[in-house]
Amino acid sequence: LDNGLARTPQMGWNDWNTFFCNVNESLIRQTADIMVSSGMAAAGYTYVNIDDCWSTKSRNAAGDLVADPQKFPSGMKALADYVHSKGLKLGIYSSAGTTTCAGYPASLGYERRDAALWASWGIDYLKYDNCGDHQGKSGQQRYTAMRDALAATGRPILFSLCNWGQESVWTWGMPVGNSWRTTGDIAANWNSIMGILDQQVGLEAYSGPGGWNDPDMLEVGVGSLTATEGRAHFSLWSLLNAPLIAGNDIRSMSAETRTILTNTEVIAVNQDWGGRQGHKISDNGNLEVWRKPMSNGSVAVVLLNRGTSTSTISTTAAALGLGSVASYTVRDLWAHTTSTSTGTISASVPGHGAAMFLVTGGGITPTPTGTIKGAGSGRC
Ligand code: DGJ
Repeated sequence: LDNGLARTPQMGWNDWNTFFCNVNESLIRQTADIMVSSGMAAAGYTYVNIDDCWSTKSRNAAGDLVADPQKFPSGMKALADYVHSKGLKLGIYSSAGTTTCAGYPASLGYERRDAALWASWGIDYLKYDNCGDHQGKSGQQRYTAMRDALAATGRPILFSLCNWGQESVWTWGMPVGNSWRTTGDIAANWNSIMGILDQQVGLEAYSGPGGWNDPDMLEVGVGSLTATEGRAHFSLWSLLNAPLIAGNDIRSMSAETRTILTNTEVIAVNQDWGGRQGHKISDNGNLEVWRKPMSNGSVAVVLLNRGTSTSTISTTAAALGLGSVASYTVRDLWAHTTSTSTGTISASVPGHGAAMFLVTGGGITPTPTGTIKGAGSGRC
């Protein structure tokens, strides 16, 4: 969406993956505080996003949504002011249907009214779900109506489509939203993350600056996901140009989780200004190689081990699309070490783990995925 936002994938936090309906004002305030003090804000995380269950069960007499006064006693305007005072931005949630997934009032037919209310509060981001009755309208119609309502407010509000990949949203998402969910909900386990990863193959042609494929929010540091799994998840989501929306309780995260979420070398791959999404280049049983061409002529690579035992995974500079030179520079984005190679890129990768490198030398030959399909219409 050409609204000036999400020129690189948006970064932030959302309550849903850990707290589900247990959202409230103190959680949001404390999260904003920690976002700054933990170093996450400095690493690029900006949006503090409220998900489902923030409103009362019905609209007020005027027809407006009302923040639940038990959960948000100071009101949303004061909360937005607080989040803004931290140098951060505040996100809200609704659905392109008659109700949210948890049964709260939603915005179909109330687009202008709700967008104007959020703008008056100082909201900066809308996650727009797909629950409730659709009143016979297509997703494209329902999401376009909210895009226009947000634009009419005059306030820059990042528009995150959450219709779970339905109606092949990637084929029409670029002129409508800043990101679009490509799948159903993620869960904090390896199989869920790998299942979502498999559904990203081929979608790389549709994303770019202003509009991103969204394989759902991060589960790093949530539930029983291990640190090894978390590093693989974060490596892959970064390479996919996914919005990096942390889903853990950052107030109580371990040092290990914080180190994963604030790895600025990995984040730099996600935030590369060229905005070309990474994609899989080889698949050998449980061992996969994914590459992302970077704007400076380097190639980012993720070596993924989906199996349970440590394995060596190898690729070559040529397979990554790099031109032929005598020596390549290989930066390990997790070990933070640099080495050289004559062309083989190889690592011993633990089960449910990944290695991630930035390989430089020789320049990039034309990308196999060609041009971005959304280019030319509704985007710059
Ligand atoms: C479904 C979405 O996909 C989730 O991310 C979350 O927003 C829930 N709905 C909230 O009900």
